[in-house]
Amino acid sequence: MLNDRNWFVTEDCFDLNRQNHAETIFTIGNGYLGTRGAHEERYRGEERTTFIHGVFDDVPIVFTELVNAPDWLDLSLWLGGERFCLTEGEILAYQRQLDLRNGLLTRRVDWRSPAGMRWQLTFERFASLDNPHLVCQRVIIKALADSSLEVRSTLSGEADNLNYKHWDWIGQGIEGNRAWLHLRTRATGIELGTATRLIICGGSGYEQIGWDTRNAPTLVNRLEVKGGQTVEIEKITAFYTSRDTAEPQKAARQVLETLPERAWNDLWQSHARAWEREWDACDVLIEGDDRAHLAVRFSLFQLLAAASRQDERVSIGAKALSGYGYRGHVFWDTEIFMLPFFTYTRPEIARNLLSYRYHTLAGARQKARENGFKGAQFAWESAATGEEVTPTWVPHPTDRTKLIRIWTGDIQIHISADVCYAIWQYWQATADDEFMAERGAEIFLDVARFWASRAEWNAERGCYEFTDVIGPDEYHDHVDNNAYTNALARWNLITALEILTWLEGYRPHKAAQLKQQLELSEPELAHWREVAEKIYWKQDSQTGLIEQFEGYFQRRQIDLQALEPRTQSIQSLLGIEGASEANILKQPDVVMLAYLLPDLFDEKTLQANYEYYSARTDHTFGSSLGPAIHAIIACRVGKADEAYEHFMRAALADLEDVRGNAHDGIHAASAGGIWQAVVFGFGGLRFDPQGPTTSPCLPRHWKRLAFRLMYRGRRFEIDLTNPQATAGEG
Ligand code: BGC
Repeated sequence: MLNDRNWFVTEDCFDLNRQNHAETIFTIGNGYLGTRGAHEERYRGEERTTFIHGVFDDVPIVFTELVNAPDWLDLSLWLGGERFCLTEGEILAYQRQLDLRNGLLTRRVDWRSPAGMRWQLTFERFASLDNPHLVCQRVIIKALADSSLEVRSTLSGEADNLNYKHWDWIGQGIEGNRAWLHLRTRATGIELGTATRLIICGGSGYEQIGWDTRNAPTLVNRLEVKGGQTVEIEKITAFYTSRDTAEPQKAARQVLETLPERAWNDLWQSHARAWEREWDACDVLIEGDDRAHLAVRFSLFQLLAAASRQDERVSIGAKALSGYGYRGHVFWDTEIFMLPFFTYTRPEIARNLLSYRYHTLAGARQKARENGFKGAQFAWESAATGEEVTPTWVPHPTDRTKLIRIWTGDIQIHISADVCYAIWQYWQATADDEFMAERGAEIFLDVARFWASRAEWNAERGCYEFTDVIGPDEYHDHVDNNAYTNALARWNLITALEILTWLEGYRPHKAAQLKQQLELSEPELAHWREVAEKIYWKQDSQTGLIEQFEGYFQRRQIDLQALEPRTQSIQSLLGIEGASEANILKQPDVVMLAYLLPDLFDEKTLQANYEYYSARTDHTFGSSLGPAIHAIIACRVGKADEAYEHFMRAALADLEDVRGNAHDGIHAASAGGIWQAVVFGFGGLRFDPQGPTTSPCLPRHWKRLAFRLMYRGRRFEIDLTNPQATAGEG
């Protein structure tokens, strides 16, 4: 790790009004599961969730969602006969802290009960990164006078998703200080086994009871405590599902059997070492800006906590594993925003995430077929199988009698090229020819085939077009010839042909097998080339401006400045149709293209398009995906102050809830974008044939920026100092 400052996210007071935001911020995870930071004792309005990767079940409207697993945090404490609860009695001291170095969440409370008894409690929890099936809790309790203590710990099969039930009960049991529960998801039939073990040290007159209530086996322990004495509760819980093993309930019980009498210390050591290795690969140091530094590390922590190390059949949803937002569905957020961080620091994880798209090719092929196209068309929203799971209709946010048609699943087609882009970037960064030959090439070729079949020939203009699409800027749907979509389709077709040529040389047998399997003929390949060469493209030769889609320049001109100060998005202000008729963007579109395919933009073109579109983008309440990208391009056009403003808007999206929606879960794409803004924007990182080089554009108060990278199997430490740094936030 690069230094010992800026590792702690801290909450200094107990505030139920912002509990859902805090639950998101204090989410912990280990790439297998993620658990929101709900308290051990329950409070009204809480959203206590644990999501396990890949455990999806059917649900109305959004088709499928990650299922909320039984809660492992539950501990109800009866102190001297009074239930520990922070809305009663008096809080004498309170602090909650997430240690980003290792994901230890600690809460310290000094509490006076309604009857006037004083207790000091420290709660700790972590989700083991070393054995991701284990989650661990410890509570240290000090009574300030002689008293009694009762601890109740329930494994509840009543866990639901905002009142929607997914679990059927199969079995349960209690044996001494252990309880277990066996459940199955209703539609998808995924079985879950969970087992928990409670150990208490300290105190006297120990009594242990089990309440074998159906669907809620509960371990109850009673004891006497002396004033000044400390009691330690250790609770270890295991989760397995039938995605991991044939008998998950057995596996969950067995893993607890293997643990020593007191397990916390050993489990903690191996967990902390695993996190140390993660940070060793990817830490970022910013000197001169503690707020930004903490926000960057927080983003990386959340990405690392969400990425599976064991399972290449899962990806990372738009809200990672930290909330109900988007129901665990996977978007281009993963490939374009989150993946570069993994590709350049933890390529093994990137490979897993890309493999998810390989394993979901069947769903993508089905989507293309159902839409009347050839090849593979990736779902705009994807879950377990790769089938399209974007809701078709959703209830209107304010008028419940109305429904809104969501078109992204039908026509936001750029996602297929985005997936290929991430594969190509991974290949460039790692030189993992094996992956490209065995998995990447097949995806590329089948997606290229989709593009060629989706392209429409316009005889009058003599070009191929993509009509009726949605580009990255979702304020405008049903548009023709979106520049981003057209340029990425062209890139995708050309690159697929290049990859095929490469494969024919590198592994001729595989190339022949793929051509046969996909029934690729020479005329078809020639057609791809022709489509690529003749895709519609329009750029004003005078100004260098690229029209976002046909007719964009004629949309109603809105002066964004005149609408300030705002507290809502342009779409909420003008309505869906009003925003669509206007020339305001939800997020970068041509500017996004400039980021991904920089060779299309010379300096003048970049400058002109950045200035034009940036002035028309809803930076504050449009998409959270945008600010990090604007920060990068602002650096490229030499606007360091503007870049910093965009960067901080992205960096604080979760920690300071600048968009007011962090309760839904973390903004995982923004978290990945933040890393890209730091290394590719402020760091100015590029890759020359010789390796990485930088042309930094550091914010004026940053004294130093350092980060680590993996490039083609070699590790690089980039360390940039800013001799002109002015004093700023420190
Ligand atoms: C954005 C998309 C993004 C999705 C999920 C939408 O609001 O416009 O670009 O993929 O959210 O984060």
